[in-house]
Amino acid sequence: PTAARIKIRDSVANRGKRVRISGWVHRLRVQGKNMQFVILRDGTGFLQCVLNNELCQTYDSLTLTLESTITVYGVINELPEGKTAPDNHELTVDYWECIGKAPGGEEAMSNKVNENSDPSVKYDLRHLVLREEKAAGILKVRSQVMKAFRDHFDNRGFTEVTPPAMVQTSVEGGSTLFELNYYNEKAYLTQSSQLYLETCLPSLGDVYCLAESFRAEKSHTRRHLSEYTHCEAEMAFINFDDLLAGLEEMVCDVIDRTLAHKPSADIIYKLNPDFKKPERPFLRMDYADAIQYLKDNDIKKEDGTFYEFGEDIPEAPERAMTDKINRPIFLCRFPAEIKSFYMKRCPENRALTESVDVLMPGVGEIVGGSMRISDLEELMAAYVREGLDPEPYYWFTEQRKYGTSEHGGFGLGVERYIAWLLNLHTVRDACLYPRFTGRAFP
Ligand code: 4AD
Ligand code: MG
Repeated sequence: PTAARIKIRDSVANRGKRVRISGWVHRLRVQGKNMQFVILRDGTGFLQCVLNNELCQTYDSLTLTLESTITVYGVINELPEGKTAPDNHELTVDYWECIGKAPGGEEAMSNKVNENSDPSVKYDLRHLVLREEKAAGILKVRSQVMKAFRDHFDNRGFTEVTPPAMVQTSVEGGSTLFELNYYNEKAYLTQSSQLYLETCLPSLGDVYCLAESFRAEKSHTRRHLSEYTHCEAEMAFINFDDLLAGLEEMVCDVIDRTLAHKPSADIIYKLNPDFKKPERPFLRMDYADAIQYLKDNDIKKEDGTFYEFGEDIPEAPERAMTDKINRPIFLCRFPAEIKSFYMKRCPENRALTESVDVLMPGVGEIVGGSMRISDLEELMAAYVREGLDPEPYYWFTEQRKYGTSEHGGFGLGVERYIAWLLNLHTVRDACLYPRFTGRAFP
């Protein structure tokens, strides 16, 4: 029998017509001898299908298992009041066939991995976990978030570039570099595309990228990955206030764009019922004020002493502070010693940098950004101070020689942004196949 092949997402528009749909058996319910319900899943949605009488008495239907693939034919009808099914309709099957039968019993997917499985089993069997509604929902939202970042920048005239992942310079210090053997030369997996973005300003103007960054993080935390998606942007002829304004605009516009996509909004409110759009303007707080805040609120180090000016504020106190303030924070003007070599100094206090971290409740830092050194001499001195050999950075240095500009930019961790948006316990759940200490498979 022939009928138009459709995807489940198009089933409302095809009500009353005879259609053909293929997918995976997501749920299965036998109701007596003459009725069997199948919730079919095809990646675009879920559809209730009913098999009546002889259709549910064949060998194939009596042995049908979850996760098997089938093709069903029939008409989709709206359900009367009182009956419930996804989208309030169901397909009355008049013909169906089994394409691939999944194992049942011991070997059934739900026996190998389920909600209660150990996390390491879940990561080993990530390819199966992806079939669960929550995992798939997160990836659907992630797809829209990535699109929203692109739309945000494209809308403002930015050009997207694809920088290299294999590099021979570090951006964020040597300790988190992944080294690789590059035709017997030393190379690294990139920590950030920032320096490459900076080289694009004179030819392309404002630029951005959505690319993978790599960090050999030793720390086992719920917000550190070895490979993550980095949304980075760079803008010329701006000042620090412009940078903060652009960042706030981006964080909020990407929320609005994602919420405007109804299926994503539904998933966001399902996974994070208390989600509220952040209040604007974001709180602006200097690093020095944060050190004071930690003291005033009795947030201490493990050894019982307070954090002092000049020290890095690690994940735990940062999150304690952000959760307590409970709104997005622009944490600004970090001391130069704890920040990267390329950061511009504050004109009013040269011990500080025109830098910013965006902190979000529940996650902490999701963005790191700054104004960049625009003066050649100052950059040369910065290499020396940082103990970096300027030679491999010649292409970056020459930007300061051939027409320099005040400029700045930032990098946002896409998984951290999603963890905040969906209230996920760990950024690992925002990845297709997370990479962290001890895991580069499957
Ligand atoms: O603060 P970071 O190290 O800043 C930079 O790399 C700058 N070069 C970016 C720029 O200005 N273009 O990293 C930026 C962001 C962090 O705020 C965090 O969200 C994310 O990248 N990030 C990580 N996300 C997951 N796992 C890790 N190991 C991460 N390291 C950084
Ligand atoms: Mg940072």
